[in-house]
Amino acid sequence: MTTKIYAHRGASKYAPENTMPAFQLALEMKADGIETDVQLTKDGVPILIHDEKLKRTTNGTGLVQDYTLEELKELDAGSWFSKSYQGTKLVTLEELLQWIKPTSLFLNIELKNNIIDYENLEKIVYNLVVTYGMLGRTVFSSFNKNSIRRLHKLDKNVNACFLTSRKIRRLKHFLRSIGATGVHAKYRLINTDFVSECKRHGFDLRVYTVNKPFSIVRCYQLGCTAIFTDVPDVAYDLYEKLPLETKYKRKNPFRRR
Ligand code: G3P
Ligand code: MG
Repeated sequence: MTTKIYAHRGASKYAPENTMPAFQLALEMKADGIETDVQLTKDGVPILIHDEKLKRTTNGTGLVQDYTLEELKELDAGSWFSKSYQGTKLVTLEELLQWIKPTSLFLNIELKNNIIDYENLEKIVYNLVVTYGMLGRTVFSSFNKNSIRRLHKLDKNVNACFLTSRKIRRLKHFLRSIGATGVHAKYRLINTDFVSECKRHGFDLRVYTVNKPFSIVRCYQLGCTAIFTDVPDVAYDLYEKLPLETKYKRKNPFRRR
């Protein structure tokens, strides 16, 4: 398969985002990888939750960074989604790494440090990924360009992509200057010129969040590196139905490293 399917926060259309049921479903739905969001607890533990605040996806209130892991583990991260997920717990990055390691899934760890720039987040997360031997299957990403710079400083060969919802001027110059291996771009930025520019310079291009069948197929046809989708089952079925020449159009991966 050329364009990879990453389950966005797990299979988040069908189970509470960034929880084990959502990750497990993504695996069952034959996703190629999982995208997840990382924030830091008061005691410095990377935990998987999209928002800085607890309110939307748990029964807690206030900021994630004001609670210890032990306190956060008391929360219910499933009831907001549906009664049948009552009692679902927040997951640490370490728990996800333990689970994902024996699978063949790829992993995208999105560092959520564009609002709160958590101290040492890059180092803590990077070291955990190394400890679990998952560096080869992991791409890091952030909307915070300084975070990409810090990751690159830690490891010159790190696979780290800049996240953006805005057009980047002087793409090659910008991505090289921060040490990014590619870009994770909002779907509305995608067009043939942008895709060609990424291909020409050997940058990965992953696209978020692609849920509509038309948009999913368009990303396949353009030969994007990957899509992030809440519906990995739909994306898989659409891929299966593609004509062979579209499926295997792109022989070589974008990135030349
Ligand atoms: O990493 C792709 C995508 O998840 C970025 O936006 O807000 O869904 O984390 P968001
Ligand atoms: Mg994300």
